[in-house]
Amino acid sequence: MTTDYKIKDLSLSEWGRKEVDLAKFEMPGLSSVISKYNTGVAAELPLKGARIAGCLHMTIQTAVLIDALVALGAEVRWMTCNIYSTHDHAAAYIASKGIPVFAWEGMTEADYQQGLEFVVNDKNGFWPNMVLDDGGDLTKHLIENYKDNLKYDPETNTGIRGISEETTTGVLRLKEFEKSGLLSVPAINVNDSVTKAKFDNKYGCRESCVDAIRRATDIMMAGKVAVVCGYGDVGKGSAASLSAAGCRVIVTEIDPICALQACMDGYQVMEVNDAVCEGDIIVTATGNCDVIHPKHFGWMKDNAIICNIGHFDNEICVEWLNEKCERTNIKPLVDMYKVKDTRQFGVRYKNIILLAQGRLVNLGCATGHPSFVMSCSFTNQVLAQIELWKNSEDYENKVYVLPKNLDEEVARLHLRHLNAELTTLTAKQANYIGVEIGGPYKSDDYRY
Ligand code: NAD
Ligand code: ADE
Repeated sequence: MTTDYKIKDLSLSEWGRKEVDLAKFEMPGLSSVISKYNTGVAAELPLKGARIAGCLHMTIQTAVLIDALVALGAEVRWMTCNIYSTHDHAAAYIASKGIPVFAWEGMTEADYQQGLEFVVNDKNGFWPNMVLDDGGDLTKHLIENYKDNLKYDPETNTGIRGISEETTTGVLRLKEFEKSGLLSVPAINVNDSVTKAKFDNKYGCRESCVDAIRRATDIMMAGKVAVVCGYGDVGKGSAASLSAAGCRVIVTEIDPICALQACMDGYQVMEVNDAVCEGDIIVTATGNCDVIHPKHFGWMKDNAIICNIGHFDNEICVEWLNEKCERTNIKPLVDMYKVKDTRQFGVRYKNIILLAQGRLVNLGCATGHPSFVMSCSFTNQVLAQIELWKNSEDYENKVYVLPKNLDEEVARLHLRHLNAELTTLTAKQANYIGVEIGGPYKSDDYRY
Protein backbone atom coordinates (compact mmCIF):
# COMPACT_ATOMS: atom_id res chain seq x y z
CA MET A 1 0.00 0.00 0.00
CA THR A 2 1.16 3.55 -0.74
CA THR A 3 2.36 5.83 2.05
CA ASP A 4 1.90 8.71 -0.37
CA TYR A 5 -0.98 10.31 1.47
CA LYS A 6 -1.79 12.82 4.17
CA ILE A 7 -5.09 12.13 5.91
CA LYS A 8 -6.43 12.11 9.47
CA ASP A 9 -6.66 8.42 10.33
CA LEU A 10 -6.15 5.37 8.12
CA SER A 11 -8.01 3.17 10.58
CA LEU A 12 -11.26 4.81 9.41
CA SER A 13 -10.92 3.08 6.02
CA GLU A 14 -13.26 0.15 6.74
CA TRP A 15 -16.04 2.53 7.78
CA GLY A 16 -15.33 4.50 4.61
CA ARG A 17 -15.58 1.34 2.51
CA LYS A 18 -18.98 0.46 3.98
CA GLU A 19 -20.33 3.95 3.27
CA VAL A 20 -18.86 3.92 -0.24
CA ASP A 21 -20.70 0.64 -0.90
CA LEU A 22 -23.91 2.22 0.35
CA ALA A 23 -23.37 5.32 -1.79
CA LYS A 24 -22.65 3.25 -4.92
CA PHE A 25 -26.21 1.94 -4.87
CA GLU A 26 -27.43 5.54 -5.11
CA MET A 27 -24.98 6.47 -7.87
CA PRO A 28 -26.33 4.57 -10.88
CA GLY A 29 -24.83 6.92 -13.46
CA LEU A 30 -21.30 6.10 -12.37
CA SER A 31 -22.00 2.34 -12.25
CA SER A 32 -23.51 2.45 -15.75
CA VAL A 33 -20.56 4.33 -17.22
CA ILE A 34 -18.18 1.77 -15.70
CA SER A 35 -20.23 -1.13 -17.11
CA LYS A 36 -20.36 0.52 -20.52
CA TYR A 37 -16.64 1.27 -20.87
CA ASN A 38 -14.94 -1.34 -18.70
CA THR A 39 -15.25 -4.47 -20.82
CA GLY A 40 -12.63 -6.29 -18.79
CA VAL A 41 -9.82 -5.68 -21.30
CA ALA A 42 -7.28 -3.43 -19.60
CA ALA A 43 -5.81 -2.14 -22.86
CA GLU A 44 -9.21 -0.87 -23.97
CA LEU A 45 -10.02 1.16 -20.88
CA PRO A 46 -10.91 4.70 -21.99
CA LEU A 47 -8.78 6.46 -19.37
CA LYS A 48 -5.74 4.17 -19.72
CA GLY A 49 -2.66 6.36 -19.48
CA ALA A 50 -4.53 9.29 -17.91
CA ARG A 51 -2.91 10.69 -14.78
CA ILE A 52 -5.64 12.78 -13.22
CA ALA A 53 -4.87 15.43 -10.61
CA GLY A 54 -8.16 15.99 -8.78
CA CYS A 55 -9.10 18.86 -6.49
CA LEU A 56 -12.66 18.34 -5.25
CA HIS A 57 -14.28 17.85 -1.81
CA MET A 58 -12.97 14.48 -0.52
CA THR A 59 -16.36 13.05 0.44
CA ILE A 60 -17.87 9.59 0.26
CA GLN A 61 -19.49 10.54 -3.05
CA THR A 62 -16.14 11.70 -4.40
CA ALA A 63 -14.61 8.37 -3.33
CA VAL A 64 -17.14 6.68 -5.63
CA LEU A 65 -16.06 9.07 -8.43
CA ILE A 66 -12.40 8.22 -7.81
CA ASP A 67 -13.20 4.50 -7.89
CA ALA A 68 -14.95 5.04 -11.24
CA LEU A 69 -11.99 6.92 -12.73
CA VAL A 70 -9.65 4.15 -11.61
CA ALA A 71 -12.00 1.44 -12.91
CA LEU A 72 -11.82 3.18 -16.29
CA GLY A 73 -8.04 2.99 -16.34
CA ALA A 74 -6.87 6.30 -14.80
CA GLU A 75 -4.20 6.88 -12.21
CA VAL A 76 -5.31 9.49 -9.71
CA ARG A 77 -3.80 11.91 -7.17
CA TRP A 78 -6.42 13.73 -5.12
CA MET A 79 -6.86 16.64 -2.73
CA THR A 80 -9.89 18.30 -1.22
CA CYS A 81 -10.93 21.70 -2.58
CA ASN A 82 -12.03 23.00 0.81
CA ILE A 83 -10.38 22.89 4.23
CA TYR A 84 -13.56 21.82 6.08
CA SER A 85 -15.34 19.47 3.66
CA THR A 86 -13.39 16.21 3.93
CA HIS A 87 -15.12 13.07 5.16
CA ASP A 88 -12.12 11.58 6.96
CA HIS A 89 -13.35 8.01 6.50
CA ALA A 90 -13.66 8.61 2.74
CA ALA A 91 -10.07 9.89 2.59
CA ALA A 92 -8.94 6.84 4.60
CA TYR A 93 -10.75 4.52 2.19
CA ILE A 94 -9.01 6.14 -0.79
CA ALA A 95 -5.58 5.94 0.89
CA SER A 96 -6.23 2.28 1.79
CA LYS A 97 -6.67 1.55 -1.91
CA GLY A 98 -3.18 2.85 -2.62
CA ILE A 99 -4.40 6.11 -4.18
CA PRO A 100 -2.38 9.19 -3.18
CA VAL A 101 -4.68 11.58 -1.32
CA PHE A 102 -4.22 14.82 0.62
CA ALA A 103 -7.33 15.63 2.62
CA TRP A 104 -8.48 15.91 6.21
CA GLU A 105 -11.23 17.86 7.87
CA GLY A 106 -9.96 21.06 9.47
CA MET A 107 -6.68 21.50 7.60
CA THR A 108 -5.19 25.01 7.56
CA GLU A 109 -4.84 27.33 4.60
CA ALA A 110 -1.11 26.58 4.59
CA ASP A 111 -1.86 22.84 4.44
CA TYR A 112 -4.20 23.53 1.54
CA GLN A 113 -1.43 25.25 -0.40
CA GLN A 114 0.76 22.20 0.21
CA GLY A 115 -2.03 20.01 -1.18
CA LEU A 116 -1.90 21.89 -4.46
CA GLU A 117 1.76 20.87 -4.77
CA PHE A 118 1.02 17.32 -3.60
CA VAL A 119 -1.32 16.61 -6.51
CA VAL A 120 0.93 18.24 -9.09
CA ASN A 121 4.24 16.60 -8.14
CA ASP A 122 4.99 13.02 -7.22
CA LYS A 123 8.47 11.81 -6.29
CA ASN A 124 9.50 12.03 -9.96
CA GLY A 125 8.40 15.63 -10.47
CA PHE A 126 5.54 17.09 -12.55
CA TRP A 127 2.88 14.46 -12.69
CA PRO A 128 -0.60 15.07 -14.18
CA ASN A 129 -1.74 14.94 -17.79
CA MET A 130 -5.38 15.64 -16.88
CA VAL A 131 -7.01 17.93 -14.30
CA LEU A 132 -10.35 17.60 -12.55
CA ASP A 133 -11.08 20.75 -10.59
CA ASP A 134 -13.80 22.23 -8.38
CA GLY A 135 -13.57 25.99 -7.94
CA GLY A 136 -10.46 26.52 -10.05
CA ASP A 137 -7.79 26.61 -7.32
CA LEU A 138 -5.77 23.81 -8.93
CA THR A 139 -6.12 25.32 -12.40
CA LYS A 140 -4.96 28.70 -11.05
CA HIS A 141 -2.05 27.05 -9.23
CA LEU A 142 -0.97 25.32 -12.45
CA ILE A 143 -1.27 28.46 -14.57
CA GLU A 144 0.64 30.56 -12.05
CA ASN A 145 3.40 28.08 -11.30
CA TYR A 146 3.67 25.59 -14.15
CA LYS A 147 2.85 27.61 -17.26
CA ASP A 148 5.55 25.88 -19.30
CA ASN A 149 4.41 22.34 -18.39
CA LEU A 150 0.79 22.78 -19.39
CA LYS A 151 0.39 22.87 -23.16
CA TYR A 152 -0.09 19.35 -24.51
CA ASP A 153 2.50 18.24 -27.07
CA PRO A 154 1.35 15.16 -29.03
CA GLU A 155 4.92 14.55 -30.30
CA THR A 156 6.37 14.06 -26.84
CA ASN A 157 3.06 13.18 -25.20
CA THR A 158 3.74 15.69 -22.42
CA GLY A 159 1.58 18.40 -20.89
CA ILE A 160 -2.07 18.45 -19.90
CA ARG A 161 -4.73 17.22 -22.31
CA GLY A 162 -7.71 18.76 -20.57
CA ILE A 163 -9.36 20.28 -17.54
CA SER A 164 -12.90 19.55 -16.36
CA GLU A 165 -14.41 22.05 -13.93
CA GLU A 166 -17.20 21.27 -11.49
CA THR A 167 -18.68 24.54 -10.27
CA THR A 168 -20.08 27.95 -11.26
CA THR A 169 -17.27 29.90 -9.59
CA GLY A 170 -14.56 27.74 -11.17
CA VAL A 171 -16.14 28.19 -14.61
CA LEU A 172 -16.12 31.96 -14.11
CA ARG A 173 -12.39 31.77 -13.38
CA LEU A 174 -11.75 29.47 -16.37
CA LYS A 175 -13.49 31.93 -18.68
CA GLU A 176 -11.34 34.76 -17.30
CA PHE A 177 -8.23 32.69 -18.05
CA GLU A 178 -9.54 32.03 -21.56
CA LYS A 179 -10.26 35.72 -22.11
CA SER A 180 -6.82 36.82 -20.96
CA GLY A 181 -5.08 34.19 -23.13
CA LEU A 182 -3.76 32.25 -20.12
CA LEU A 183 -5.70 29.07 -20.81
CA SER A 184 -3.32 26.80 -22.69
CA VAL A 185 -5.44 23.66 -22.30
CA PRO A 186 -8.97 22.79 -23.51
CA ALA A 187 -11.52 22.74 -20.71
CA ILE A 188 -14.99 21.30 -20.21
CA ASN A 189 -17.42 23.24 -18.08
CA VAL A 190 -19.22 20.41 -16.28
CA ASN A 191 -21.24 22.86 -14.22
CA ASP A 192 -23.36 23.95 -17.15
CA SER A 193 -24.47 20.50 -18.17
CA VAL A 194 -28.18 20.70 -17.41
CA THR A 195 -27.87 17.49 -15.39
CA LYS A 196 -25.32 19.26 -13.19
CA ALA A 197 -26.37 22.86 -12.49
CA LYS A 198 -30.12 22.23 -12.54
CA PHE A 199 -29.75 19.20 -10.26
CA ASP A 200 -26.71 19.44 -7.96
CA ASN A 201 -26.82 23.21 -7.52
CA LYS A 202 -30.59 23.28 -7.12
CA TYR A 203 -31.94 19.96 -5.82
CA GLY A 204 -28.68 19.18 -4.01
CA CYS A 205 -28.90 22.42 -2.02
CA ARG A 206 -32.61 21.81 -1.48
CA GLU A 207 -31.49 18.85 0.66
CA SER A 208 -28.18 19.97 2.10
CA CYS A 209 -28.82 23.62 3.04
CA VAL A 210 -31.26 23.04 5.90
CA ASP A 211 -29.48 19.81 6.83
CA ALA A 212 -26.38 21.88 7.63
CA ILE A 213 -28.19 24.57 9.63
CA ARG A 214 -30.03 21.96 11.66
CA ARG A 215 -26.91 19.91 12.41
CA ALA A 216 -25.06 23.07 13.43
CA THR A 217 -27.70 24.79 15.53
CA ASP A 218 -30.69 22.49 16.20
CA ILE A 219 -32.80 25.58 15.67
CA MET A 220 -36.55 25.26 15.04
CA MET A 221 -36.86 26.37 11.41
CA ALA A 222 -40.63 26.71 11.21
CA GLY A 223 -41.81 30.26 11.73
CA LYS A 224 -38.36 31.80 11.26
CA VAL A 225 -37.50 34.43 8.66
CA ALA A 226 -34.76 33.21 6.31
CA VAL A 227 -32.95 35.53 3.92
CA VAL A 228 -31.36 33.98 0.83
CA CYS A 229 -28.93 36.27 -1.01
CA GLY A 230 -28.80 35.25 -4.69
CA TYR A 231 -31.56 33.42 -6.54
CA GLY A 232 -29.54 31.46 -9.09
CA ASP A 233 -29.55 27.66 -9.02
CA VAL A 234 -28.04 27.37 -5.53
CA GLY A 235 -30.26 30.16 -4.18
CA LYS A 236 -33.37 28.50 -5.64
CA GLY A 237 -32.51 25.18 -3.98
CA SER A 238 -31.60 26.82 -0.68
CA ALA A 239 -34.78 28.93 -0.61
CA ALA A 240 -36.87 25.83 -1.36
CA SER A 241 -35.09 23.97 1.43
CA LEU A 242 -35.77 26.72 3.98
CA SER A 243 -39.34 27.22 2.82
CA ALA A 244 -40.09 23.48 3.05
CA ALA A 245 -38.80 23.60 6.63
CA GLY A 246 -41.40 26.25 7.44
CA CYS A 247 -39.36 29.44 7.14
CA ARG A 248 -40.74 32.62 5.61
CA VAL A 249 -38.18 33.30 2.90
CA ILE A 250 -36.92 36.70 1.73
CA VAL A 251 -34.68 36.83 -1.34
CA THR A 252 -32.14 39.47 -2.33
CA GLU A 253 -31.00 39.71 -5.96
CA ILE A 254 -29.21 42.06 -8.33
CA ASP A 255 -30.66 40.50 -11.49
CA PRO A 256 -34.26 41.49 -12.32
CA ILE A 257 -35.00 38.15 -14.01
CA CYS A 258 -33.96 36.09 -11.00
CA ALA A 259 -35.74 38.57 -8.70
CA LEU A 260 -38.93 38.12 -10.71
CA GLN A 261 -38.54 34.34 -10.56
CA ALA A 262 -38.31 34.61 -6.77
CA CYS A 263 -41.53 36.66 -6.73
CA MET A 264 -43.28 34.07 -8.91
CA ASP A 265 -42.10 31.34 -6.54
CA GLY A 266 -43.83 33.18 -3.71
CA TYR A 267 -40.91 34.84 -1.96
CA GLN A 268 -40.58 38.45 -0.94
CA VAL A 269 -37.71 40.24 -2.68
CA MET A 270 -36.01 42.99 -0.70
CA GLU A 271 -32.93 45.17 -0.91
CA VAL A 272 -30.13 43.53 1.06
CA ASN A 273 -29.80 46.40 3.57
CA ASP A 274 -33.45 45.90 4.56
CA ALA A 275 -33.46 42.11 4.38
CA VAL A 276 -30.55 41.61 6.79
CA CYS A 277 -32.54 43.43 9.51
CA GLU A 278 -35.37 40.88 9.24
CA GLY A 279 -33.56 37.54 8.99
CA ASP A 280 -33.29 35.00 11.78
CA ILE A 281 -31.23 32.96 9.31
CA ILE A 282 -29.20 34.52 6.49
CA VAL A 283 -27.70 32.40 3.71
CA THR A 284 -25.48 33.76 0.93
CA ALA A 285 -25.60 31.91 -2.41
CA THR A 286 -24.25 34.40 -4.93
CA GLY A 287 -20.70 33.40 -5.93
CA ASN A 288 -19.96 37.10 -5.35
CA CYS A 289 -17.88 38.93 -2.74
CA ASP A 290 -18.85 41.28 0.14
CA VAL A 291 -22.53 40.38 0.07
CA ILE A 292 -22.83 40.59 3.85
CA HIS A 293 -20.84 43.65 4.70
CA PRO A 294 -19.53 44.74 8.15
CA LYS A 295 -22.26 47.39 8.47
CA HIS A 296 -24.91 44.66 8.14
CA PHE A 297 -23.84 42.82 11.29
CA GLY A 298 -24.86 45.75 13.50
CA TRP A 299 -28.32 45.77 11.96
CA MET A 300 -29.07 42.07 12.39
CA LYS A 301 -31.41 40.50 14.94
CA ASP A 302 -30.00 39.17 18.19
CA ASN A 303 -28.77 35.57 17.66
CA ALA A 304 -29.14 35.79 13.87
CA ILE A 305 -27.53 32.77 12.19
CA ILE A 306 -25.41 33.60 9.14
CA CYS A 307 -23.86 31.19 6.68
CA ASN A 308 -22.69 30.86 3.08
CA ILE A 309 -23.39 28.09 0.58
CA GLY A 310 -21.44 29.66 -2.32
CA HIS A 311 -18.01 28.29 -3.27
CA PHE A 312 -15.68 30.78 -1.58
CA ASP A 313 -15.64 32.33 1.88
CA ASN A 314 -15.67 35.94 0.66
CA GLU A 315 -19.48 36.35 0.49
CA ILE A 316 -19.66 37.23 4.19
CA CYS A 317 -17.03 39.62 5.60
CA VAL A 318 -15.82 37.08 8.15
CA GLU A 319 -12.44 38.78 8.58
CA TRP A 320 -14.17 41.80 10.11
CA LEU A 321 -15.99 39.63 12.64
CA ASN A 322 -12.78 37.86 13.60
CA GLU A 323 -10.80 41.08 13.87
CA LYS A 324 -13.33 43.35 15.56
CA CYS A 325 -15.65 41.19 17.64
CA GLU A 326 -15.30 38.94 20.66
CA ARG A 327 -15.65 35.34 19.49
CA THR A 328 -16.96 32.37 21.46
CA ASN A 329 -16.61 28.98 19.88
CA ILE A 330 -19.70 26.90 20.62
CA LYS A 331 -18.64 23.73 18.82
CA PRO A 332 -16.59 22.97 15.70
CA LEU A 333 -17.60 25.40 12.93
CA VAL A 334 -20.22 27.19 15.06
CA ASP A 335 -19.03 30.54 16.46
CA MET A 336 -20.84 33.27 18.32
CA TYR A 337 -19.70 36.91 17.93
CA LYS A 338 -20.55 39.81 20.20
CA VAL A 339 -21.50 42.63 17.85
CA LYS A 340 -22.35 46.25 18.68
CA ASP A 341 -26.00 46.93 17.85
CA THR A 342 -25.99 49.94 15.54
CA ARG A 343 -29.77 50.16 15.35
CA GLN A 344 -30.18 51.22 18.99
CA PHE A 345 -29.35 54.34 20.94
CA GLY A 346 -26.65 53.86 23.54
CA VAL A 347 -24.25 50.95 23.69
CA ARG A 348 -25.93 47.58 23.33
CA TYR A 349 -24.46 44.33 22.17
CA LYS A 350 -26.02 41.30 20.56
CA ASN A 351 -24.89 37.92 19.30
CA ILE A 352 -24.39 36.79 15.74
CA ILE A 353 -23.86 33.08 15.04
CA LEU A 354 -21.56 32.27 12.13
CA LEU A 355 -21.45 28.78 10.63
CA ALA A 356 -18.41 27.13 9.03
CA GLN A 357 -16.43 30.39 9.22
CA GLY A 358 -18.30 31.54 6.11
CA ARG A 359 -17.23 28.56 4.00
CA LEU A 360 -19.66 26.25 2.17
CA VAL A 361 -22.04 25.47 5.01
CA ASN A 362 -23.49 22.29 3.52
CA LEU A 363 -20.05 20.70 3.32
CA GLY A 364 -18.65 22.22 6.53
CA CYS A 365 -21.57 21.65 8.90
CA ALA A 366 -23.11 18.66 7.12
CA THR A 367 -21.95 16.07 4.59
CA GLY A 368 -22.77 17.91 1.34
CA HIS A 369 -25.31 16.78 -1.22
CA PRO A 370 -26.72 13.25 -1.23
CA SER A 371 -25.16 10.57 -3.40
CA PHE A 372 -27.88 10.40 -6.05
CA VAL A 373 -27.54 14.01 -7.18
CA MET A 374 -23.75 13.78 -7.04
CA SER A 375 -24.02 10.80 -9.38
CA CYS A 376 -25.49 13.16 -11.99
CA SER A 377 -22.64 15.65 -11.52
CA PHE A 378 -19.91 13.04 -11.45
CA THR A 379 -21.20 11.10 -14.45
CA ASN A 380 -20.72 14.36 -16.37
CA GLN A 381 -17.23 14.63 -14.89
CA VAL A 382 -16.30 11.12 -16.06
CA LEU A 383 -17.67 11.75 -19.56
CA ALA A 384 -15.75 15.04 -19.73
CA GLN A 385 -12.52 13.35 -18.66
CA ILE A 386 -12.95 10.57 -21.25
CA GLU A 387 -13.74 13.09 -24.00
CA LEU A 388 -10.74 15.32 -23.27
CA TRP A 389 -8.37 12.41 -22.73
CA LYS A 390 -9.31 10.75 -26.02
CA ASN A 391 -10.01 13.72 -28.25
CA SER A 392 -8.06 16.64 -26.81
CA GLU A 393 -6.63 17.52 -30.20
CA ASP A 394 -10.13 18.22 -31.57
CA TYR A 395 -10.48 21.12 -29.14
CA GLU A 396 -9.02 24.61 -28.96
CA ASN A 397 -7.84 26.12 -25.69
CA LYS A 398 -11.34 27.23 -24.82
CA VAL A 399 -14.10 26.38 -22.39
CA TYR A 400 -16.69 23.92 -23.78
CA VAL A 401 -19.81 22.18 -22.47
CA LEU A 402 -20.65 18.55 -23.14
CA PRO A 403 -23.03 17.98 -26.06
CA LYS A 404 -26.74 17.73 -25.34
CA ASN A 405 -26.97 14.02 -26.23
CA LEU A 406 -24.54 13.21 -23.39
CA ASP A 407 -26.47 15.46 -21.01
CA GLU A 408 -29.66 13.58 -21.90
CA GLU A 409 -27.78 10.30 -21.48
CA VAL A 410 -26.77 11.26 -17.94
CA ALA A 411 -30.43 11.91 -17.10
CA ARG A 412 -31.49 8.66 -18.76
CA LEU A 413 -29.01 6.69 -16.64
CA HIS A 414 -30.69 7.98 -13.49
CA LEU A 415 -34.33 7.38 -14.42
CA ARG A 416 -34.50 3.64 -13.84
CA HIS A 417 -33.34 4.08 -10.25
CA LEU A 418 -36.45 6.17 -9.66
CA ASN A 419 -38.76 3.79 -11.55
CA ALA A 420 -39.43 6.45 -14.15
CA GLU A 421 -40.48 5.33 -17.62
CA LEU A 422 -40.01 7.57 -20.66
CA THR A 423 -42.61 7.85 -23.38
CA THR A 424 -41.20 7.11 -26.85
CA LEU A 425 -41.98 9.52 -29.67
CA THR A 426 -43.74 8.18 -32.73
CA ALA A 427 -42.07 8.95 -36.06
CA LYS A 428 -44.88 11.38 -36.84
CA GLN A 429 -44.46 13.18 -33.51
CA ALA A 430 -40.67 13.38 -33.87
CA ASN A 431 -41.09 14.83 -37.33
CA TYR A 432 -43.75 17.27 -36.10
CA ILE A 433 -41.47 18.81 -33.44
CA GLY A 434 -38.34 18.44 -35.57
CA VAL A 435 -36.24 16.03 -33.47
CA GLU A 436 -34.83 12.52 -33.84
CA ILE A 437 -36.74 9.78 -31.99
CA GLY A 438 -33.62 9.11 -29.87
CA GLY A 439 -32.92 12.82 -29.14
CA PRO A 440 -31.57 15.36 -28.55
CA TYR A 441 -34.99 16.70 -27.66
CA LYS A 442 -34.15 20.36 -27.12
CA SER A 443 -32.05 22.97 -28.86
CA ASP A 444 -28.84 24.08 -27.16
CA ASP A 445 -30.41 27.34 -26.00
CA TYR A 446 -33.42 25.72 -24.30
CA ARG A 447 -33.32 26.83 -20.66
CA TYR A 448 -35.13 24.06 -18.69
P1 NAD B 1 -25.74 31.48 -10.31
O1 NAD B 1 -24.93 32.38 -11.15
O2 NAD B 1 -26.77 30.60 -10.92
O3 NAD B 1 -26.47 32.32 -9.17
C1 NAD B 1 -25.89 33.35 -8.43
C2 NAD B 1 -26.96 34.43 -8.28
O4 NAD B 1 -26.49 35.41 -7.39
C3 NAD B 1 -27.26 35.13 -9.61
O5 NAD B 1 -28.65 35.08 -9.87
C4 NAD B 1 -26.78 36.56 -9.39
O6 NAD B 1 -27.58 37.51 -10.05
C5 NAD B 1 -26.89 36.69 -7.89
N1 NAD B 1 -26.01 37.71 -7.29
C6 NAD B 1 -24.75 38.06 -7.65
N2 NAD B 1 -24.30 39.02 -6.84
C7 NAD B 1 -25.29 39.27 -5.94
C8 NAD B 1 -25.42 40.17 -4.83
N3 NAD B 1 -24.44 41.00 -4.49
N4 NAD B 1 -26.58 40.15 -4.13
C9 NAD B 1 -27.61 39.32 -4.47
N5 NAD B 1 -27.53 38.44 -5.51
C10 NAD B 1 -26.38 38.43 -6.22
O7 NAD B 1 -24.70 30.59 -9.50
P2 NAD B 1 -25.04 29.24 -8.73
O8 NAD B 1 -24.85 28.09 -9.64
O9 NAD B 1 -26.30 29.41 -8.00
O10 NAD B 1 -23.80 29.17 -7.70
C11 NAD B 1 -23.66 30.09 -6.64
C12 NAD B 1 -22.41 29.73 -5.84
O11 NAD B 1 -22.58 28.45 -5.24
C13 NAD B 1 -21.15 29.60 -6.68
O12 NAD B 1 -20.05 30.03 -5.92
C14 NAD B 1 -21.05 28.10 -6.92
O13 NAD B 1 -19.75 27.72 -7.28
C15 NAD B 1 -21.50 27.57 -5.60
N6 NAD B 1 -22.03 26.20 -5.54
C16 NAD B 1 -22.09 25.64 -4.31
C17 NAD B 1 -22.60 24.36 -4.16
C18 NAD B 1 -22.64 23.73 -2.81
O14 NAD B 1 -22.84 22.53 -2.71
N7 NAD B 1 -22.47 24.48 -1.74
C19 NAD B 1 -23.09 23.65 -5.26
C20 NAD B 1 -23.04 24.26 -6.50
C21 NAD B 1 -22.53 25.54 -6.64
N1 ADE C 1 -20.58 19.23 -3.52
C1 ADE C 1 -21.75 19.28 -2.84
N2 ADE C 1 -21.97 18.12 -2.19
C2 ADE C 1 -20.91 17.31 -2.45
C3 ADE C 1 -20.57 15.99 -2.08
N3 ADE C 1 -21.38 15.27 -1.30
N4 ADE C 1 -19.43 15.50 -2.55
C4 ADE C 1 -18.63 16.23 -3.36
N5 ADE C 1 -18.90 17.48 -3.75
C5 ADE C 1 -20.04 18.02 -3.31
